[in-house]
Amino acid sequence: MEQAIRIGALISGGGTNLQAIIDACEAGKIDGRVVFVGSDKDGVKGLERARKHGIPTFVVDYGEIIRRYRRDPRSMETPEDFDLDECLARQNLFPPTSDPEKVKAFFVTRAVAEKALLEKIAPFGIDLLVLAGFMRNLTPYFIDRFNTDPDNPRIMNIHPALLPSFPGVDGYGDTWRYGCKVGGCTVHFIDYGEDSGPIIGQRAFVIEEGDCLDTVKQKGLQQEWRLYPECIQLFARKRLKTVKLTHTLDDGRIYQRTVVKVLEEG
Ligand code: GRF
Repeated sequence: MEQAIRIGALISGGGTNLQAIIDACEAGKIDGRVVFVGSDKDGVKGLERARKHGIPTFVVDYGEIIRRYRRDPRSMETPEDFDLDECLARQNLFPPTSDPEKVKAFFVTRAVAEKALLEKIAPFGIDLLVLAGFMRNLTPYFIDRFNTDPDNPRIMNIHPALLPSFPGVDGYGDTWRYGCKVGGCTVHFIDYGEDSGPIIGQRAFVIEEGDCLDTVKQKGLQQEWRLYPECIQLFARKRLKTVKLTHTLDDGRIYQRTVVKVLEEG
């Protein structure tokens, strides 16, 4: 086996994807191991799963930070290296028409939480950070400090829909309610937007007449548990490369997008 990569995971809940990743590492299907599991809230089942495998855990309580800001915004000290304007210039989470106070509250509280995350993560010296049901958007403050080489992103996420359809918090619900005949899941690298980064892998499933939201979720999760470890293994084997493609459309407009190329083994 080539040198095993060190994987960190962030979760918010049940952690079935985390379990699939840990199991794949233990079974030798991923050349790597999970060296920590962090959560944005305490008491979630995913943390228990980690402990059962002897994996160190930590919590950065986002909810507490957000409540503290609401009580007294001025008392919240932002990290020394946080620059709100720089974050606003890079972010792609809020449209320009958004309420500036809400946007400010978001980035200030996230910077405080993300600084704590960075401090907890640093000692583990990881190669890859996987978001496995982590229900918080990371901001440019965190992303730029973790992804120090912009050509080699190293934060992955799994999303419960065939992106770019149905970004946001309820991919399977949105797919189901829309009346789609096919659903799916997507693993992608994180960029400054919500579920908008370069796509690494996707899997689809058929939605049949007899399906309900629960069966759609079950079908989707079954696919997720296979797809995520496969994508992580591609990363571990150094088979993922991001390239910036430029296309000229028929009407002369230029379309640019960073995409993932999957390289041949070896
Ligand atoms: C999954 O559907 C994942 O795609 C989404 O959140 C859910 C997490 O499930 N981001 P689990 O915590 O891995 O069981």
